[in-house]
Amino acid sequence: MSRAGNSRLWHPYADMQAVGQSGELVLTRGEGSYVVDESGRRYLDLSASLWYCLVGHGRAELAQAAADQMVQLETYSTFSDISNVPAEELAARVSELAPMDKAVVFFTSGGSDSIETALKMVKRYWQALGEPERTVQIARTGAYHGMHMGGTGLVGIPAMRQGHTDLGSDVRHVQWDSLDAIENAIDELGPSRIAAIFVEPIIGVGGVLAPPTGYLAGVQEICRRTGALLVVDEVVTGFGRVGEWFASTRFEIEPDLIVCAKGLTSGYLPLGAVIAGNRVSAPFYDGTVGPWRHGYTYSGHATACAVALANLDILDRENLLAASRQLEVALAERLSPFADHALVSEVRAGVGAMASISLTPDALEKTPTLPAQFSATLREHGALTRTLVGGEIQISPPLIWTTTELDWMQNSIELTLDTLTRRGL
Ligand SMILES: Cc1ncc(COP(=O)(O)O)c(C=O)c1O
Repeated sequence: MSRAGNSRLWHPYADMQAVGQSGELVLTRGEGSYVVDESGRRYLDLSASLWYCLVGHGRAELAQAAADQMVQLETYSTFSDISNVPAEELAARVSELAPMDKAVVFFTSGGSDSIETALKMVKRYWQALGEPERTVQIARTGAYHGMHMGGTGLVGIPAMRQGHTDLGSDVRHVQWDSLDAIENAIDELGPSRIAAIFVEPIIGVGGVLAPPTGYLAGVQEICRRTGALLVVDEVVTGFGRVGEWFASTRFEIEPDLIVCAKGLTSGYLPLGAVIAGNRVSAPFYDGTVGPWRHGYTYSGHATACAVALANLDILDRENLLAASRQLEVALAERLSPFADHALVSEVRAGVGAMASISLTPDALEKTPTLPAQFSATLREHGALTRTLVGGEIQISPPLIWTTTELDWMQNSIELTLDTLTRRGL
C-alpha cells in the first residue's frame, strides 16, 4: 500500500515531505460507490472523489462509449470551422438543459480552464461593447474558482492565495453571505467599473455553505440593475448534485455564464464547459468581436464529449437527479446527530447531495494535524474522503448510494470520532 520515499509522482495539494514519509494510498479499482486499493481493501467513497463521480465508479458503459468513439475518431481540433459529432450533440444537449435563452457552449479541459475562459469572455465582452473600464470582478470570501492564475485571483480562501503574488485579476472580495457587501463595493467603486460577479451557488471547497434565502436572486437583481454580468460557477453543483441539472434552476436564476466541469463526465474523462446566454455570446456571434483568439487543444474533444453524452444518459435513465433529492434528505438525517459530538462544531447539510461536518475550532487549535488524523482514521474504518480548508469533512457521495452506503458512512464516521476521542484528541 505504501511506496514511501520511492514515488516520482508530485501530488497536487500535498505536503510532499509528509507524503514521502507516510507513503501513498494506491487505488487500483473502482466499483460503484467503492474504491479498492492495491492490497484489496475496499473503501466507501464519501466524496465522489473530488465531488465529480456522480454515476459511481467502474461503469463499463462509459468505457465502451470512449472505445467506440476512439476507433471512429479519437478527436480532432475544433478550432475555426472544424467540428465533430459528439461535440455538436453534447453542446446541443447541454444548451437544452441550461436555464438560459439560446445558450451556446464553449468546451474546455476542466473547471479551472472554464473559469479562465469565463474571465476572458467577460473581459473581451466589455472591450467589444466599448466599456473597457469595467475591469473589476466581484468574488466572495470562501469562494473556490480553480487554480489557474485568474481563478486563483478570484479564490476567496486566503491560504490558497498565500505565497503567490501578482495573481493578475482586478478582484474585489466581499463577505460570502451579504448582499449589502456587494452593494457597498459597487457604491465605492462605481457601477461602471464592475465587469462581473462570480458566485458558486453553494460554496463547496470553502466548507459547503448554502446561500442565505434570497441571496442568489438578490445577486441577480444587483447584476441586472448595474449591468454587471452574472457568472455562476457550477463546477461542483452542475449535472445533478443539487437535484436539478443546474443549481441555477433550483435557485431560479438565469446566469449570463455558467461554468461547469466534473459531473459532466462524472470524471471519466477531463472535460469542462462555459455555457453562455445570448447576452454574452451576441458580440462574439454577430461579428463585433471577429475571431476570438481563445481555445484549448482539447476543446470539444470527441471522446470526452462522447463519454459525457453517455454519462448524461445514465443520469437520465437511472433518475439520479431524483436520487440526489432523496440523498439530500437522507444525508441531513444521518449526519445531523454528529453535531452533538465533542469534536464537532457544526453539520452542514440539507441543500443538495453535499454536506460537511466541521471539527471544533478548539480541537483544531489544540491539534493542527486533526484533519489529517481524521482522514487517516476514517480510512482504517473503511471510508475515504478529505477535509476542507476550515477543517470540515467533505460528504458528497456518488448519487447511486443506497441505505447500505448510508449505514456504512454513519458507522465509519462514528467509529472515527470515537477512536480520535479515545486517543485524547
Ligand atoms: C467551484 C469550483 N470551480 C472550479 C474548480 C476547478 O476545477 P478543476 O479542478 O477541474 O480545474 C473547482 C474544483 O474543485 C471547483 O470546486
